[in-house]
Parts: sequence; structure tokens; C-alpha cells
Amino acid sequence: MGVNIRSAPRAEAAHEPRISRRTVLTGSGAALVVIALGSTRRADTRGVFDPAGGQAFAPWTDWQAEGQDVPIALVSAAILASNAHNAQPWLFRVQDTSLDLFEDTSRSLGSLDPFGRELHIGLGCALENLLLAAPANGYEHKLLLGPDPADPGHVATVALSPGRAEETELYSAIPHRHTNRYPFDTSRPVSNSSLTTLGALNDEPDVRVHWFTSRAERDRIHELLAGAAADINADPEQSYDNGPRWLRQDKQSIEHHRDGLTLDTMGLAAAAVLAAKMLPDPGPEEAGRAWLASVHEQAGTAGAFGILAVRDDRDRAQRIRVGRIWQRIHLWTTVNRLAAQPMNQLHERADREAQLGLRPEYGAALEELLGDPGWRALFTFRIGHPTQQAPPSPRRPVPRVLTT
Ligand SMILES: Cc1cc2nc3c(=O)[nH]c(=O)nc-3n(C[C@H](O)[C@H](O)[C@H](O)COP(=O)(O)O)c2cc1C
Repeated sequence: MGVNIRSAPRAEAAHEPRISRRTVLTGSGAALVVIALGSTRRADTRGVFDPAGGQAFAPWTDWQAEGQDVPIALVSAAILASNAHNAQPWLFRVQDTSLDLFEDTSRSLGSLDPFGRELHIGLGCALENLLLAAPANGYEHKLLLGPDPADPGHVATVALSPGRAEETELYSAIPHRHTNRYPFDTSRPVSNSSLTTLGALNDEPDVRVHWFTSRAERDRIHELLAGAAADINADPEQSYDNGPRWLRQDKQSIEHHRDGLTLDTMGLAAAAVLAAKMLPDPGPEEAGRAWLASVHEQAGTAGAFGILAVRDDRDRAQRIRVGRIWQRIHLWTTVNRLAAQPMNQLHERADREAQLGLRPEYGAALEELLGDPGWRALFTFRIGHPTQQAPPSPRRPVPRVLTT
């Protein structure tokens, strides 16, 4: 998964001042140049001055607001979870002593996720946050993974009862966890002890964590990711679902949708973000090329890659357990000042091959990478030392994700 970015002008609107891409990219004086040219209104509507301001980002600061009923406090934590393309494919039913989680398939990633793999992993991430929030709010929980035979969209029931209050460091990290798409610091390898501790966060017998740390392994995954990203670009449906479908380019659309991917979260250098916000939209081909370049940079600076594998990649409960482990891993990296980013292009192409009956090029590559007969690769990510802190992404507020 990833996103096509706005990187260069296609045509200049008549009322825009003439600002060339080069002018904007000249470095730290860029903002001054743009403002001096009289584009403050555009800068404002594009969120240049206050990228993480506005109600769309309030759930990151309000998540522990005083006076919330306990089940609502748990949902406030759940909605801050990692989820593919920030589509937020979840709905919650809140009762006095229990919560139910449902999938919202209207928020599927379509051709990028034809079998619901990413959708279910994201639900697992939300469930993990929710379960971390239960003891922090003084509740014990009992988890029952669905579905309810009467409702295939029902994913899980969490029964709550008063218990010992316990606030873990993973729980406290919930509002600080953000996907980091910047290059990582290649001068600092991820220590073996970090990888061992991360692996030990997996307590599910039907999930395995595989690490790829050697130069040769990382180069091989880099090469595969670049190939898969190019193939996504070349597939018109996947290219649309990867880019324009979930891209929120300006403040108004961020505030309206409160989901999706924003220019600020794409890991671009500050001057490039400014250029992307201020200049007219690029065409799809140029946007695709820019996205490919960022996948190259991200994959090329991974400290390590991890792949989460399961016995049966079509089993919803196993996917949800992978989501729980990924969320836990990402929270642990947050506590320990490491950076992390899912990179799911290989799986997205493998699923697409299966959907269209194509030769399983990426399916076979994943099997070969894993080299673990009887296990199926479900989710890939990179970790490393950050070069920059990642910003938050928008979230729909709790009332918008409640159902009856
Ligand atoms: C199943 C799944 C797949 C994802 N795949 C990618 C990916 O391929 N590339 C990427 O940059 N982020 C990927 N992400 C991260 C999401 O885009 C990210 O969690 C979402 O935009 C919300 O942002 P946040 O994690 O900063 O809160 C994935 C997340 C999940 C759960």
C-alpha cells in the first residue's frame, strides 16, 4: 500500500502566481517566497501553516477526555490504531458491560485488498488498542472473536467487568504512535535485542514473526517492493485505489472526511510538502513516479524488514491476531524511539494476482522469502531509527463510528 503524491505542476491555474517548482524547492526560504508572492490564502486552505490543526486531529489529544463512559473511552483508544490507507473500516456497538466490533466493508481498499486481508488486519489493530485501554480504565475483559452467525460483519465481542486498574507503557504510547514514512537512519542498525523483544510480543501460536536484517535480504525485499509498486502503478484500478481514492489534499477535505492519507504524512522533505501543497496537481503518471521514488527511498533505508505470517491467510481470526501483534509491535517501537512503517505492496500484488488469475509472481516471491513451509506471509513492515518524527493522521470522531 502507499499513495500517489502531488509532486509537480500539470498546468497553472490562471489566478495562481507563477511559482516554479524549483523556486519552491530552494530550501528554508521557501515559505517566505510563497507568502511574498501572495499565496497566503492557498497556503491556508492547503494547511501549510497548521498541518495537524483542526478537529480532524482532535481525537489524538481528546482520547482520554474526562467524563467519558468507560466503553466510549475504549473506543476513543481503538480509533487511533494503525489501519490500511487510514480508511478506518470499523464500527462499534457500545453497551453498558460489553462492546461489539463490526467491519465496515464500504471502507474496503477495493482492488488493493480484494480479499479483505488489510481490512481485517486493521480491525485487529483497533481491537488491540481497545483491549489495552480496558485495564487502563479499571476493567477486565473477555474477548470472543466472531462472527455472530446472524451477522457476518460482526468481528468480536468484548465483555467488560470491573477489575484491577493497570496502565501499561504500550497503552500510554497510543497517541504517540504514527506511521513513519521518512527515510530511516542507515548509520544505526536495529539491535538484535530489540528484534528479540519485538518477536516476544507475539503470544499467538498461529502467528510467526520473521526478520530480514542482512544486507542481501534487505536488498532483495527492496527490489521486490519496487517491482510491486511499479506494477501497482501500471494497474489502472490499483493505481486509483492506491492514490486519488484516499488522498486528502487540502484542509477542507481533511476536515470533511477525517480519514485517508494527507501530504504531511507521506515522508516528504518539508520543501517538497510545501511544493505539493502550493502547486497545481500533477498528472497521475507523474504522481505515480513520485510515489515509486518514495517507496525506493523507504525500502532502501529500512533497518530491518519484518513479515508476519499465519497458517491460513484467508482466516479472519488469524488476520485479526496479526493486526493485534502489529499494533503491539508499533507501540513498542514508539516507546523505544524506533520508527516503523508497514509496506504491503508485495501482498497487494499477490492478492491481485490471485484475484485476476495471473501468474503468481509475488505470491511465489513471498513464499520464497518466508521459506517456512505451511506458513503464509500476511503483512510486511520496516523498522529503523527515525530521521524525523512522524505527524498524526486524521481520525473520524467516536460518534461517527458508533452503530446500534
Ligand atoms: C494492514 C495495513 C497495511 C498498511 N500498508 C501500508 C503500506 O503499504 N504503506 C504505508 O506507508 N503504510 C501502510 N499502512 C499504514 C497506514 O497507512 C496507517 O496506519 C494509516 O494511514 C494511519 O496512520 P497512522 O498509522 O500514522 O495512524 C498499513 C497499515 C495497515 C494496518
